[in-house]
Parts: sequence; structure tokens; C-alpha cells
Amino acid sequence: MNERDSEQVAQMFTEGGYTVTKDEFEADAILVNTCSVRDQAEQKALGKMGSMVRHRQKRPHVVYGFMGCMAQSRGNELFDNIPHLDVVVGTQKYHKVFEYVDSILQTRMERRMDDLKLTYKGDHICDIDEEKDSQNTIKDHTVESIEPATFVSIMQGCNMKCSYCIVPDTRGRERGRPIADIVEECKDLVARGVKEVTLLGQIVNLYGRTEFPKVDGKSPFVQLLEAVHAIDGLERIRFTSPHPIGYRDDLVEAFTYLPKLCSHIHFPMQSGSDRILKAMRRPYKNEKFVEIIKKMKAARPDMAITTDIIVGFPGETEEDFMDTLNTVKELEFDNCFVFRYSQRRNTPAADMLEQHSEKTKEDRNQRLLAVVNEIAQRKNNALVGSVQEVLCTGPSKNNPNTLTSRTPQNKIVIMEGNPDRLVGKIMKVRIDECTGFTLYGTPIIESIED
Ligand code: 5AD
Ligand code: SF4
Repeated sequence: MNERDSEQVAQMFTEGGYTVTKDEFEADAILVNTCSVRDQAEQKALGKMGSMVRHRQKRPHVVYGFMGCMAQSRGNELFDNIPHLDVVVGTQKYHKVFEYVDSILQTRMERRMDDLKLTYKGDHICDIDEEKDSQNTIKDHTVESIEPATFVSIMQGCNMKCSYCIVPDTRGRERGRPIADIVEECKDLVARGVKEVTLLGQIVNLYGRTEFPKVDGKSPFVQLLEAVHAIDGLERIRFTSPHPIGYRDDLVEAFTYLPKLCSHIHFPMQSGSDRILKAMRRPYKNEKFVEIIKKMKAARPDMAITTDIIVGFPGETEEDFMDTLNTVKELEFDNCFVFRYSQRRNTPAADMLEQHSEKTKEDRNQRLLAVVNEIAQRKNNALVGSVQEVLCTGPSKNNPNTLTSRTPQNKIVIMEGNPDRLVGKIMKVRIDECTGFTLYGTPIIESIED
């Protein structure tokens, strides 16, 4: 989601005549989009911003800005600790970043003409207000960011109140974009070569529940899926992340009659203990989560499921942790992201008394990861020798001489081949090898459409 928001900002700078650069040494403005979900992410962003002050020494006009969740939750206080910081822009104001940065930059450039030795102070801008309809502002893509598989933001905010989570505080109430606008954006992407879209929201299956009515018993989210599915030339649809609340049969059924929906969901479980789910203020029982997964696997036998789990939540006993471990073993997730609980400001769990030591969290983290990895590797190994249908998305990050692709189950398959012929193509590959989470394959040439 942050990447998608950053892309919107980048596109506005491009339209304003700027060039996006990955080289911080040549940038006139350096913006850090921040995540607050865990403390580690905030510390990383603060460290990065601190270390970049050196560019100001050589190029005194450089504008520094924080955007996103940490900007939203800390606001003006960020200026106290980071003297070179110029701009702080919250999560509902991404569309204003260009205007703010450009105005500071223009002023500095003009002043620099008069006095090259001037140091610049007092230009701070902090905007973390709410903005009505801000969900409709994340809609543009940069040319570079349009890959065969691209993300589309369909909503902002979350009305849930999970007791550990800072998101409702930083991202505000749920606000959905109109279906017609989302379809328009997807059509435009398809016209520019996109084959797969991932619909993005904090709580994606509840899209539109406060704005748009049900039609024929179908939720606004299923209506959206049907509308996106009808786009000619779009081959694959994914979404992330759904929540067990509001994961109804209309969504399960959609997987039986919408073939472009990929056989994969990332479905955060957080804990397998009912006691902990209650303390987390997730208003359902583990049994319901398991039941939804069983229904999804019945709807699509090749369905892959990945999840998020928090270990070491305050008060989590060894027995609670074992409930999580056993559910993981029972459900055999294709992959799990395991997080050590991190205390977040203004969240109820931060004040709970039975906080765990880092040692306990790390111990549970390692024990859970061992089980998760064993299951994931076993499942991936079983694919060696099989033929999978993949979408080739571009050069591999680790080795740009090879190409990367994904199966409908979202497994990464690395292969060799001519990028001009293969990128953006859906094709069959034979899986030759597996190293943990990565599969290696060979395209079956006859099936490549030219
Ligand atoms: N501590 C650890 N993990 C967290 N997550 C959200 N808040 C916290 C927290 N305070 C995890 C959840 C969520 C994922 C994006 O981050 O598992 O699904
Ligand atoms: Fe956070 Fe819970 Fe909302 Fe997910 S559903 S964003 S974990 S409050």
C-alpha cells in the first residue's frame, strides 16, 4: 500500500516536470514514506532520514520530507528531533506533497540566486489533517511502475479496532472509491500492457460497506470483482488483505464463477487462540477462520493460503501459542509472515500489563518459523516436475540475467529467457528445482503466444 501511495506522489512530481531518481546524491527532494505498523519500521525510517542530512551540506537547497503513517501519528514532533526536516505529510494528503515540496524548493532556488551561502530555516510544512475523498486521489501510475502485475488502491482506512494495531489511528475510517473509477483505472492499465491487478485495501473484503448497497445479495466487494473481471485483456485478479469479518459466502462463491481470480489469498490469522483473538479485539473465533479456509479450498482445490501471525501478544501463554502452532499445522499455510508483537502508541494492547520479554517473543518466533518453513518447503518441493502457468513480470531482483514470474498461487518461479519475448506473457513452465521459497523452471516453448 505504501508503495502504491509513493507511486502516486512520484507521478505527480513527474507531471510537474521533475525526474524521479534512485540516486539520493543527485536528488533535490528526498521523501521517505513511512510505515508505523511495527516499531522497527519507524526506527528504520528515522535512521534513514538522519543519515541523509549529509546531502544538505553540499546542496543546501535539498528538501526533506516524511510522508505516510509515521508522519500522521507523530506530526510536528518530528521537527523537534530532525532539524533538517522540511515537510511532514499525513496519509490523507499524498496528493499535496508535490505542491508543498515544490513551493519550498522554488523559494530556496530563488533565494540561492541572491545569496549562495544562505542556510535555509523556517520553511516547515506539516499537514496531517483529514481530507474528504482522499481515497479517490490514489489513482495514477508512473510509466516505470507499470509492470505486467500492478497494484490498484480501492479504499483507504479501517473501521476495525484490533487492540495491537496503529492503522485505524494513522489511516482513518474506511472510505471506498466508486466501482466505476476503479474499473476505469484498471482498463487504462490493461491498455498499457497490464495483465494482472491486485486490489488493495486494509480490509479489502469490506470495501464499500458503508457507502454502497448490496445488490442481489452480493457485497460491494463482490460487485467490484465482477466488474473488474469483465475487463477484456485483464487476465488475473488478486486482492489483499481480507478479514474474517464479512468474509461471506458470496465471496467464496465468486471463486467458482470468476476464473480470473487467482487461486491464492493472503488471509491474516494473527492468532489461533480464541482467548488471544478476544484480547486482540478480533471479533470471531478460530473455528470461523478455519471454516472460511475450508470453504475456500472447497471452492478452489488448488487454493494457496498465506497468512500473518503475531507472536508474544501481551498475556499469550504457552498454551495459547500452542493453539496457534497447531492451527498452522492443521491448515498448512503456503507461507506465513510471523511478527513479534510490537507495542504501538495509542493502542490498547500497549497498556496491557502482561507484556512479554523480547526473549520470549524471539523464542516463539523461531519455533513458529521452523514449522512454517518446513510446511512451505514441503509444499514447494512437491511442485518439482509439475507444469505451472505463470505470468512473467520482468527481470529477477537477485539476478537480473534471469526472469521472474508467478503462479496463480503466487509462488515465484525463476527462469531464463528473452525478456522481449517473455515479459508480460502468461505461459506454461516446467518446475525443475526448488530452493526453499523459490522455484526454478523452464518455459514450455510451444505454449508461448507470440
Ligand atoms: N506488532 C506486531 N505485528 C503487528 N501487525 C500489526 N500490528 C502489529 C504490532 N503492533 C502485523 C499484523 C498485520 C501485519 C501487516 O502486521 O500481523 O496483519
Ligand atoms: Fe489493523 Fe485490524 Fe484494521 Fe487490519 S483489521 S488494519 S490489523 S485494525
